[in-house]
Amino acid sequence: MHRTIENGKLRIEHVGQEVKLIGWVAKRRNLGSLVFIDLRDRTGIVQVVFDETLSDAVKDVRSEYILEVDGVVEERQAKNEKIATGEIEVKAKSVTIINRAETTPFMISDELDTLEDTRLKYRYLDLRRPVMQEKLIMRSKIGGVIRRFLEDNGFIEVETPILTASTPEGARDFLVPSRVHPGSFYALPQSPQLFKQLLMISGFERYYQFARCFRDEDLRADRQTDFTQVDMEMSFMSEEEIEELMEEMMAKVMKDVKGIDIPRPFKKMTYKDAMNTYGSDKPDIRFGLELQDVTDVFRNSEFAVFKNALAIRQSAIKALVVKEKAAATRKETDKYTDLAKKYGAKGLVVVKYLNGALEGSVTKYFTEEEKAALVAALNLKEDALIMMTADYWIKAATALGALRVAIGKELNLYDPHTFAYLWVVDFPMFEYDEDGNLTPTHHPFTRPKDEDIPLLDTDPINARAYAYDMVLNGFELGGGSLRIYDGAMQEKMFEIIGLTEEDIQRRFGWFVDAFKYGTPPHGGLAFGFDRIAMLLTESDSIRDVIAFPKNASAVCPLTNAPTPVEEKQLKELSIQICEE
Ligand code: AMO
Repeated sequence: MHRTIENGKLRIEHVGQEVKLIGWVAKRRNLGSLVFIDLRDRTGIVQVVFDETLSDAVKDVRSEYILEVDGVVEERQAKNEKIATGEIEVKAKSVTIINRAETTPFMISDELDTLEDTRLKYRYLDLRRPVMQEKLIMRSKIGGVIRRFLEDNGFIEVETPILTASTPEGARDFLVPSRVHPGSFYALPQSPQLFKQLLMISGFERYYQFARCFRDEDLRADRQTDFTQVDMEMSFMSEEEIEELMEEMMAKVMKDVKGIDIPRPFKKMTYKDAMNTYGSDKPDIRFGLELQDVTDVFRNSEFAVFKNALAIRQSAIKALVVKEKAAATRKETDKYTDLAKKYGAKGLVVVKYLNGALEGSVTKYFTEEEKAALVAALNLKEDALIMMTADYWIKAATALGALRVAIGKELNLYDPHTFAYLWVVDFPMFEYDEDGNLTPTHHPFTRPKDEDIPLLDTDPINARAYAYDMVLNGFELGGGSLRIYDGAMQEKMFEIIGLTEEDIQRRFGWFVDAFKYGTPPHGGLAFGFDRIAMLLTESDSIRDVIAFPKNASAVCPLTNAPTPVEEKQLKELSIQICEE
């Protein structure tokens, strides 16, 4: 069973050659005494013609049978420009049926309206579709380019444990009970963060790993419970040097895999500017539609919505002006309000600028001065729809940022086949959690900017970190930071986020200890490998570039995992299930 050439590689220059092909039957048509079969392998399809001498041999052949065909390449009379092999066909001389196939639950074709769960249940067939093969093949190519780049730049691949202790990346852990130590659990790594820092202490200087990570969090189009990071750590490098090297790596990926030269250096935007201008720490900069700040316009407003919001510390009133939407209907603005609420806004203040005047039911709460100041602040000249949110500045901006993205898409404000990379830098060290406590924005090993160290004691929420994210088309592709490398600073960080000495010792004692023995300045980052593949293959979901993903409810429809286990297994693990 040795083919002489792959099906998708046949071209006009092969005319006259004898070939042996292998493949799956993609399509079969009878035309008088002739039978035409499209034979598919991972490189593409080629049309094979069986004349009357062979029609008996293929009379039972159906879709997805596997055939071995000997034949001669011929030029086609009627060429098909839609496929790469469309100028030729193969005239079969003999055929062997290698294996038969039952009718598949769905057609093996690019266009499909089958439910995703059905595709995932029969994933091995779903992955037979050319469009899916292309995605996984591109994923593999991206990985290859990255590996070669890192190896060429002195990075050493080291594997770190899967059964391990908890890593604080902000998600819930997956726990694995220990049989040998009843009542004790391993945690699956949320990332190799702590180990890669230890490898720097060991002196490896440049580490990388295609690392499987596990996070028990709500799934979204760009999130899976188990996913892959291209994880890296470097010693003795500045933030700028790390960013430059990573840009070089991504530029190489874009060139080698997509044939695209991306402009460098990447744009750099501070977290504050990104939030203020785009309402997101991962802005899609393929289009404008920037948010504006009208806090000063309504500083003394009696309008309750604004007045109450401005009573909060660090609040703001943000505005989005959409010229193309001046004629928006009530139904549309209600839809925008719902979306803003979904992203945390208490509500959406909607007004219109029509024929040189502000309109809308809320305008009765605005004074004439406020109206004039709003028109001036937003530089309103043409008819426009204006939407405003008022809240703690991050909340106000985030809700409007989500609207910006939805409207950008709705109005086709950008070419979806372009790639806009940037760095978002200077992330805050901390943010408030739901209970109003300080929690690390990145993780607790992130180093504060030297000039902001005094703020750790006086005003920690305003302290910035050496933390950076690479962003592509509105997605966080990867993120990282320079790390704290002095033990005292590390302990201070733990203290600020409210860990007691006992917590520190129990959870990270082993890690903090390591810092005593000569820790180099170090930093790193991790890319979401699945996310890179998703964006470069222009897929809508991360699931499309993962061979065997979970569905949105974290279930694998193929294996049915997670499943209950045998009573005996639970007993061995000293585990009892409580029925609620
Ligand atoms: P972070 O938590 O930002 O950083 O993760 C790094 C990158 O991993 C990807 N990612 C995910 N991809 C798919 N599904 C998920 N559930 C998921 N969660 C994260 C994202 C993200 O940018 N240890 C640090 C990195 C460092 O500081 O070096 C870390 O894990 O693309």
